[in-house]
Amino acid sequence: MASPTQGPQGQLYADPVPSPDETSFQQDNTSDAYYSSPYYEAHEYQVQAFPAAANTTPLNLTTFLPADIINAITAAGKIVFHAVGDTGAAKVSSRQPAAEAIANQGRVADAMTADVAVSDIAFFFHLGDVIYQFGEAQYYYDQFYEPYRNYDRPIFAIPGNHDGMVFGEGSAAPSVPSLSAFLTNFCAATAAPSPDAGGLMRTTMTQPGVYFSLDAPFVSIIGLYSNVLDGPGVISSQGGAYPISDEQLNFLQAQLLRLKMLKTTSPRAVVLALHHPPLSVDAKHGGSTGPLADIDTCCAAAGFWPDMVLSGHAHLYQRFTRTVAAAGGKQTPYIVSGSGGYAATAPQAGLPAAPVTVGDATLEVNPIVDFGYLTLTCDGATLTATFTSADASGVEVRDTVSVDLAHGTIGVAAVAKHHKSSRKLPPQHKLTRARRS
Ligand SMILES: [Fe+2]
Repeated sequence: MASPTQGPQGQLYADPVPSPDETSFQQDNTSDAYYSSPYYEAHEYQVQAFPAAANTTPLNLTTFLPADIINAITAAGKIVFHAVGDTGAAKVSSRQPAAEAIANQGRVADAMTADVAVSDIAFFFHLGDVIYQFGEAQYYYDQFYEPYRNYDRPIFAIPGNHDGMVFGEGSAAPSVPSLSAFLTNFCAATAAPSPDAGGLMRTTMTQPGVYFSLDAPFVSIIGLYSNVLDGPGVISSQGGAYPISDEQLNFLQAQLLRLKMLKTTSPRAVVLALHHPPLSVDAKHGGSTGPLADIDTCCAAAGFWPDMVLSGHAHLYQRFTRTVAAAGGKQTPYIVSGSGGYAATAPQAGLPAAPVTVGDATLEVNPIVDFGYLTLTCDGATLTATFTSADASGVEVRDTVSVDLAHGTIGVAAVAKHHKSSRKLPPQHKLTRARRS
């Protein structure tokens, strides 16, 4: 096989020799017990402070991949990358032994790894919840480094609630600061061997913080951190309702203004990523109205709107189209893919068959309750997102949507079949709902 990729700053991504998936955990995961700890019970409904980004300079993919790979992307006239969230294998019970939990994540990771060899994948943008249950460092080997040990590309990540959660034995203070292991593994000052990688080759990522932007050929991604609650997601103080800063709003608005200009000279898709989905019909979490409003406010102020919004958190695949009146009727896919390996969980009971419309959002296809991942392709004119399931029944393309970037319209071929009889959701089914339970 070819030598593993080495980044221009000495980054390493893959082990040189492919190896079989593990079948048992190196570190048995007992962190479920912290759900009943005094500290967790005292702080379950509280957002947590997070560190300001070291800087707001956008990451550039040229810093992470060697010139020959960047040149190949440019020569091909398109970029292809992966995205998915909620990957950590930790859901072990009497009904799901460890080997099955490991296999759920392993099948998705292995399908993505296989793609790298045949599809010129540039990178993997993780949508959060890398590690369960509480983002502890000791689980990074089993849930992150081992599953992606042969994935020979950079993995960027925004933290999910489980990555940010803190825990402790008492109720006064956590024994591990919020986001501690995530910062060690994804926000290191320099690319270096991780203390949590168990000797595997993948080096630490050098993101400036838990919110950041990434510029690549034909695509830019803005990643936001939506904090530690099981629901809803929170990215700002929401006018003083939450005791956290509004720095992510300033960051988001500045990035939107920057990309509004960049897009005029460097054709590209602009993708927004946050762990908690603004729109969701999952049974447990629902959509997060706070971030939806925050993002709209920033976009309106910048006069610029993303081409696609990606989230995880809900453990299934969902694809909405939001028609944004303030953006001149721009059609924007809001895609949820929290299907990377932790769990596959059914949506709300009694949900009508898609398409179903509430307000300015339409659930375009019936949610797919299988493990799988997103593959995104952009040539600067069209952004395409494809969901591929990868489970015991095999690897299969299940849904595809394309966005015409110049006109802000959804590809007709991809969704026409779903638009024959749009039905309204009954009142009990909300695409979004605020919740602090
Ligand atoms: Fe989550």
